[in-house]
Amino acid sequence: MESAQYAKISHSHSNIGWVELEEYLMYRLNEMVSLVNFQSNYEGRMDIKEHGSLIGWLDTVRSHVQGHSPLELSLAIGMSAPLIGLYDMKMDGAYHSLMFHIIGNSSMGKSSAAALAVSPFGRPTNKGLVKNFNGTANALEQHVANNYGVPIVLDETSMHTLTTNQLSTFVYQIADNQGKNRLNKEAEMKDVLMWATTIILTGESSILRETKANVGLRVRLFELNNIAWTQSAEHAEALNAGIQKNYGHAGKIFVESIMRLGLAKIDKMLHECKKELVDALPASNYRERIAGKFAFVLLASKLANDSLQLSLSTSEILRLLVEQEQASLIKRELAESFHQNLKAKIIEYVGHFKINNEKPTTNKSVFGKITIKGSQTSIFLLESAYRKFAEELRITNVDVLLNDLKEKGFLIHDQNKNKKRTRIDGNDVYTICLRYDYNFLNEYISDYKLVESLDSEKVNSVYPRKPKKRPFVESKRDGGSLEVLLNG
Ligand SMILES: Nc1ncnc2c1ncn2[C@@H]1O[C@H](COP(=O)(O)OP(=O)(O)O)[C@@H](O)[C@H]1O
Ligand SMILES: [Mg+2]
Repeated sequence: MESAQYAKISHSHSNIGWVELEEYLMYRLNEMVSLVNFQSNYEGRMDIKEHGSLIGWLDTVRSHVQGHSPLELSLAIGMSAPLIGLYDMKMDGAYHSLMFHIIGNSSMGKSSAAALAVSPFGRPTNKGLVKNFNGTANALEQHVANNYGVPIVLDETSMHTLTTNQLSTFVYQIADNQGKNRLNKEAEMKDVLMWATTIILTGESSILRETKANVGLRVRLFELNNIAWTQSAEHAEALNAGIQKNYGHAGKIFVESIMRLGLAKIDKMLHECKKELVDALPASNYRERIAGKFAFVLLASKLANDSLQLSLSTSEILRLLVEQEQASLIKRELAESFHQNLKAKIIEYVGHFKINNEKPTTNKSVFGKITIKGSQTSIFLLESAYRKFAEELRITNVDVLLNDLKEKGFLIHDQNKNKKRTRIDGNDVYTICLRYDYNFLNEYISDYKLVESLDSEKVNSVYPRKPKKRPFVESKRDGGSLEVLLNG
């Protein structure tokens, strides 16, 4: 670009975030951020003029954010906004905005964490990038309109005055980057408002619960629940003192580093982040999609480290994101997913189970037993085997899973218990007992002698079918012989 020619003319902008002028990528903040000399100043309603110093902001982050993973996560979420805006622009609006809702009781540091997230880009108060969540849906839309990559906070969702329907429509619209069609006073169609960025909400209770959200909403709004954002009142105050004095500097350096790296390099890094997340997230129908969204946050933390010489823990940020997804899966499909995926595990380890009280043919540690009556198959898992399978399916909170399995009707259990007492090898044990209304084992176990189940037409009708290929069974013995879980 003939930079001198542009430099002479002073321009102004009222939209913020990415724009492409000729083939140059530029980012509109208080001033134009770009690798060429192009001057433009912001003339809008928000205070996004920088204040204090970059050093002051960096000192605050190094003293009060680094080493405290929830705040590191919050900062990375804020830093993801330019990446979201960039992808939306380069991919012709194919990218949704990213929405996180920070939920918890008051005085947990939620608003402080959210203010931190926007502090690299502008003033972290309601004069700048923190807005109150207490207007009509139209008013709320205005807060994000024409924003292509600057993070914004909508604080205190508990103050909202929307109906449940309006609230879920609002989440869809914000995530999908487009406001409502509206008519002006002359009954002409107004331009539809658009945006693409990261939006952070804070509040005391779950919007997903309030709206009885379906999966569509759950893959658009990510709720971060029960996180101690700050360690103490003093911690929150020190953080706030630092970021209320020093803001609006780091975002420019971060965005310049994106421009220097270029889209091809960024895209490669984004794919690596997505892969890391796919490997770490629990199996579910939405794993790819969610990994693709969280990848922007993970990448933002890496780019922030490189461009600002920070040392945010990317592995901790990843861990918190994975935990969020595990918690959300519980509400979405955890029990269903475990029930479904357990079948493959049982087949993989079938040699470790007694089937209809026959001894396993190989001398293996026992994981439990399987009974097949008619088409009903019951899997009695010793607790250690239940934990092992849950772990292999990347589910860490086994107690929550157990309650969910019970609630969804997948468990056979003793009255007022989650477990089922039964006899295995002459021992009375407590087991986790899962039921299936069909026999998914019949093609694998016909070489075990199914002498029992005389009431079983299904089993008898498939037996004595020729054995199919034996499933792979691990041969190494892994300690855990039959443990007795009396009173378990
Ligand atoms: N971890 C904490 N423990 C105790 N008090 C806290 C903590 N974090 C913040 N506070 C107190 O709560 C006040 C509000 O902090 P804020 O970040 O707005 O929290 P929230 O949005 O969760 O209510 C702070 O000024 C501070 O006095
Ligand atoms: Mg608050």
